Amino acid sequence: MPIARTIANQLEHASWIRRMFEEGARLKRERGAENVYDYTLGNPDVEPPPEVRQALERVVASRRPNGHGYMPNPGFPEVRELVASKLRRDTGLDFSADDVLMTVGSSGACNVILKSILDPGDEVIVLMPCFSEYPFYITNHAGRMVPVETGDDFLPDVARIAAAITPQTRAIFINTPNNPTGRIYPESVLKALDDLLASLDHPVLVISDEPYKHLVYDGRRQVEVSSIVRYAAICNSWSKSQGIPGERIGYLALSPNLPDRPALRAACAFANRILGFINAPAIWQLVEKEAFDAKIDVTGYQDKRDLLCDALTQIGYQAAKPEGSFYVFLKSPIPDDVAYVRRLAQEGVLGVPGTGFGRAGYIRLSLTVPREMIVKSIPGFAAAFNSLL
Ligand SMILES: Cc1ncc(COP(=O)(O)O)c(C=O)c1O
Repeated sequence: MPIARTIANQLEHASWIRRMFEEGARLKRERGAENVYDYTLGNPDVEPPPEVRQALERVVASRRPNGHGYMPNPGFPEVRELVASKLRRDTGLDFSADDVLMTVGSSGACNVILKSILDPGDEVIVLMPCFSEYPFYITNHAGRMVPVETGDDFLPDVARIAAAITPQTRAIFINTPNNPTGRIYPESVLKALDDLLASLDHPVLVISDEPYKHLVYDGRRQVEVSSIVRYAAICNSWSKSQGIPGERIGYLALSPNLPDRPALRAACAFANRILGFINAPAIWQLVEKEAFDAKIDVTGYQDKRDLLCDALTQIGYQAAKPEGSFYVFLKSPIPDDVAYVRRLAQEGVLGVPGTGFGRAGYIRLSLTVPREMIVKSIPGFAAAFNSLL
């Protein structure tokens, strides 16, 4: 059975992480797994907080009547009310339970909102470099991605965004703390973006994808995007904050500032249904009702960040420490990041070329690896770097 040309094409372009994964499997066979240092996958390596496990045990033991049945597409009303109450507290905005839809992770939320607002050919601005799935999510819903480069500091460049807006622009993705750059967007930049969007004669939705919101370092804080940006749809999840990405639980929240909210809510509920999600996992909605605020301890990631970035800087790399998320976006010592990733692989070190995220000249390294692996990998980074001298 032939596969669709679109998917064949997308697979070709989506293959960087997969290619590195295959390369890793080959190297592990050749050299033994203990001699391969794989920084490619952003899969949390911390156990969920005990409160999450305890809540899960309680929910399962409670044998709630009809606890395994279908429910309204947006999710359990009491869980949505809890999310709304937290958002009211954190943003000062008047979120109601009706503005919240429980989703299959943040990625489910992104797909629900895109499905709800895009007609074929509608444009969505994506700030580059970006999470490598955004282009596919936009294509899923017949939208057209409009890439806009961030500055050398990886922060949004509002003038460039302004230049990219057309009457067909429906939305812009914001992802802070950012994958792959580790940047946190400051309040002033978000304010400038809001000023720009408020000056337009049609509404442009900010899709604020926030799964790394809790992963911030050195006492930093991620400001509430929706408290600054008027037209915001928040996509969030417990994947990273509780180390449970396999459980697929998150939410979409529509800012009370959005015009025509009842129609948008209904569209999102319908999109959740026809995308085949139907509703978010029942058990995990109930777990989060009890363990909402439980968080992993981020000091482990911060410690590994410092270990890796300090060691790389000492070798001579430009390794800026991420402010948040769990990625180091390392400057490749040569402009050709793909060639340098191959050079590192010869030393048993696996990273993902920045090209895979839309910014050549960089390499993404995930900190979701054991500390000992980082220590053992440093000579490989040094050998690759010194071979250029
Ligand atoms: C920027 C970004 N958005 C969304 C996701 C997906 O998150 P979730 O597991 O909540 O669907 C990821 C996962 O790596 C991500 O990096």
